[in-house]
Amino acid sequence: MTHSFGGIWTRKKLGVLERYLAFYMTALKKQSFTLHYADAFAGTGSHSPAMQADQEMLIPYEDFRGSVQAALSVEPAFHHYHFNDLNPDHIAELHQLSDSHPDKVIHIYQQDANVFVPQFCASMGRSDRAVLFLDPYSTQLDWSTLRHVAASGKVDMWMLFPLSVILRMTPRDGDKLRPEWDGTLTRLLGTQDWQQAFYKPSVEPAIDDLFGDSKDSGIQRIDAGELGHWVTGRLREIFAFVPEPMLLENNGHPLFLFYFAVSNPSRSAWGLARRAVHSIMKQK
Ligand SMILES: C[S@@+](CC[C@H](N)C(=O)[O-])C[C@H]1O[C@@H](n2cnc3c(N)ncnc32)[C@H](O)[C@@H]1O
Repeated sequence: MTHSFGGIWTRKKLGVLERYLAFYMTALKKQSFTLHYADAFAGTGSHSPAMQADQEMLIPYEDFRGSVQAALSVEPAFHHYHFNDLNPDHIAELHQLSDSHPDKVIHIYQQDANVFVPQFCASMGRSDRAVLFLDPYSTQLDWSTLRHVAASGKVDMWMLFPLSVILRMTPRDGDKLRPEWDGTLTRLLGTQDWQQAFYKPSVEPAIDDLFGDSKDSGIQRIDAGELGHWVTGRLREIFAFVPEPMLLENNGHPLFLFYFAVSNPSRSAWGLARRAVHSIMKQK
């Protein structure tokens, strides 16, 4: 089964993840920790990026390794791999992948990621350390789940935040906000304050005002950059260290913010990660 999703940004994020996992294992291999890799939206282990005509020269058609394969290929290997997905077909493929890696300790789960992640974080003992990858398609991840990761003190997290979806759910003109999205946005952003944070009085009057028949409410959403800045600030309230995210775009349109966050409050734990992540994100 070919799992089709993504595009060039998919390769970018997996490149960053893979480089970070290699750095993490090299940095911690001499310590006595038990090291875990957890993938809460694991997919099938491979993916076929959705193509656009002008991308063919850049990415030939082939089945690429997904995050799970990338993690399994990292040397030195993690002591435990935890792969979770809701889709039963994906679970079947993950079992096949597990069978083809008898040398690795692989645990497979079929749970909503918002159930799996808190349970995984609660299972971390004193000598456990983990990297968690959160790669939802869209709005599946609850903010309350991130609080469990932040409170663990032992988990480094990479997360795709669905910026384009938030922009679509919050129209520029505040009058066009649809009440049916309220619950989803609050669950995704973890606060009801998003409406006050995102909408401000319009700076410029609508052009139609000249003719006295404007339909503009006078309340406008902040732009994508400001919105991303607000999300980064919220993550920094709960995690010990959150660098600026990487913007993943398609044809100049913002799609996702790719975040790294460290839950360990010890400065020595995140000082090294900070230098590594800075250079990992800059590499092409
Ligand atoms: C973007 S894909 C993950 C791709 C994967 N990280 C890779 O690199 O190959 C998202 C995955 O999340 C799964 N999924 C969707 N909703 C979910 C949920 N609520 N909990 C867990 N998995 C979910 C889908 O079945 C899909 O396999």
